[in-house]
Amino acid sequence: MVNLKGRDILKMSDLTSEEVFYLLDLAAELKDKKKNGIPVSDRHPGKNIALIFEKTSTRTRCSFEVAAHDLGMHVTYLDPEGSQIGWKESIADTARVLAGMFDGIEYRGFEQTIVEELAYYSKVPVWNGLTNESHPTQMLADLLTIREHFGHLEGLTLCYMGDARLNTGNSLMVACALTGMNCVICAPEKYQPAAEIVEKAREIAAKTGSEIVITDVPQAASKGADIVYTDVWVSLGEPEEVWKERIADLSSYRVDKSVMDNAGPDAIFMHCLPSFHDLGTKIGREIYEKYGLSEMEVTDEVFESANSLVFVEAENRMHTIKAIMDATL
Ligand code: CP
Repeated sequence: MVNLKGRDILKMSDLTSEEVFYLLDLAAELKDKKKNGIPVSDRHPGKNIALIFEKTSTRTRCSFEVAAHDLGMHVTYLDPEGSQIGWKESIADTARVLAGMFDGIEYRGFEQTIVEELAYYSKVPVWNGLTNESHPTQMLADLLTIREHFGHLEGLTLCYMGDARLNTGNSLMVACALTGMNCVICAPEKYQPAAEIVEKAREIAAKTGSEIVITDVPQAASKGADIVYTDVWVSLGEPEEVWKERIADLSSYRVDKSVMDNAGPDAIFMHCLPSFHDLGTKIGREIYEKYGLSEMEVTDEVFESANSLVFVEAENRMHTIKAIMDATL
């Protein structure tokens, strides 16, 4: 019997396969209730949660806020400038202050060590809303989306193309391994995940019967894949100057129609968003003026195609975050 009460959710490898499937089932149940207008506000009435965002967000913040309201809770949002965290008050002190007032704390920011420290000093559950190394709440939404589409996870193959050194690439390997999915990471050598994370994912994969493959050859990587996944080439918090190098290094890893045609016949496209697939953003237009590129990690054709599940995936952030809070509070 799975019991996650009081638990922190800091990275995917903190969870067992059984716990991941428990959270997915709970998220599916909560999504069904939401779609059918069945309220769940009696589950955590009057509880309070703190949302610490040291980096910007649309999906994660909105998901925590909507999910908290649906569960009968109240939220306090702390933006990068709106608190003393880090510059005037240590993480350890902040954790103990907030834990005295709130029932749970979400943290989005920089190094994984920060969220780990926050959790260590906090007596209430801490949820990682994205660090440089890990994005566990995104993974649960991705897994729910894939399972809704295919009806199962085990045996499917996910191909991730692009910069795989950071939170999304790292977390996808472990998420796939935990659920019996094969994961093919396709990135130039210097953009491949750290050896110890690959080793950890392979250790888990050995138990669930799946495979973790690391390659730099796009054609071989996407061949027959069920899911093709990518992320932006420049992450939150990185300086603008890195665009030039990223475009040079990663352009042959862009997900375009030829990549999707090379994947399985019913392959879906996924992206954690936001995405640079057109000129609809200020940064996108600046890149176009400087480098003449109107599409970055994915073409607009693939992004807007019938096989693209990016907006279902975004909606599922809310249902899965609701499950995480419901299960741990
Ligand atoms: N995918 C994701 O984390 O989106 P936000 O940055 O908008 O929260």
